[in-house]
Amino acid sequence: METVEIYEVGPRDGLQNEKRPIPTAEKIALIDCLSGAGFRRIEVASFVSPKWVPQMADGAAVMAGIRRAPGIAYAALTPNLKGFEAAALARADEVAIFASASEGFSRANLNATIAESLDRFAPVAAAALAHGIALRGYVSCVTDCPYDGPVPPGSVARVVAALRDMGCHEVSLGDTIGQGRPETIDAMLAAVLQEMPPARLAGHYHDTNGRALENIDVSLARGLRVFDAAVGGLGGCPYAPGAAGNVATGAVARHLAGQGWQTGLDLAVMDPAEALAQAMRRGSAEGGHGSDNHD
Ligand code: HMG
Ligand code: MG
Repeated sequence: METVEIYEVGPRDGLQNEKRPIPTAEKIALIDCLSGAGFRRIEVASFVSPKWVPQMADGAAVMAGIRRAPGIAYAALTPNLKGFEAAALARADEVAIFASASEGFSRANLNATIAESLDRFAPVAAAALAHGIALRGYVSCVTDCPYDGPVPPGSVARVVAALRDMGCHEVSLGDTIGQGRPETIDAMLAAVLQEMPPARLAGHYHDTNGRALENIDVSLARGLRVFDAAVGGLGGCPYAPGAAGNVATGAVARHLAGQGWQTGLDLAVMDPAEALAQAMRRGSAEGGHGSDNHD
């Protein structure tokens, strides 16, 4: 049976958008639960400006508090050298730089043009490579941008090429606001595959319109074998109005198993993890008082 990796991003992409300040201990409990589920990689923190994403301000404490399971890489987002240094100190096994294919989202999310953001990522990439820390890249808004509308596939391919040239071993393609359709995802992949082989690409599909599983299917047909997902379908992006959560990990695992793919995930562990994530989200819905985001 062929293997597909599900890359768990719930503790980062999922929780970053919750309104209630989630206690560090709750984040640690969720990650410890996920560590028994069979993932190879879990994205657990973001070393970004706490003024921009207050929910992720406790990344160092989260990474210090988790019980690391052997064989799992614990990953973190790093927007600049300051973030990289904090991530390295927290012993992140993989760091991710994150660019956008659209100018509108780049400005909203990073306060920089695409070109400026790439200039800022270059020293982060160099530092990661020098430290022997695995370097992942993200491209947001691979089909649609909440500010600029439809995004041309060529713009995505250009950013993928820039991230590849900086040394990213893998680039994750973000349908940030879940507006991608199988046709638009397929057209985007046709362009991106001119720059990077499918074995080095990941699909990162939010599920706003309920089409993420179909988008995974067209990506599988194009040869992709890594998909990002969030436990319990948590999340969204604070700088992408209307973004829903990532496609839910359990739904992806079941969908893939139904097609005969091996994911290595133990659903007996995932089910309680999904319940825990949903309880954290309900806690936010009931007790939240809004975080102070820029938009
Ligand atoms: P800026 O305001 O232009 O930069 O933000 P700055 O350098 O002027 O920094 C502002 C303040 O933040 C300063 O503090 C810095 O020291 C501090 P002050 O001097 O005012 O007291 N600061 C930091 N503190 C801690 N760690 C850091 C850090 N950097 C600066 N690393 C910046 C520019 C890039 C920092 C900001 O825009 C930012 O942090 N953006 C991140 C936003 C974010 O995290 N978005 C969500 C993640 S992306 C996503 O979800 C998409 C993805 O899932 C894929 C998809 O779905 O498409 C990956
Ligand atoms: Mg995302």
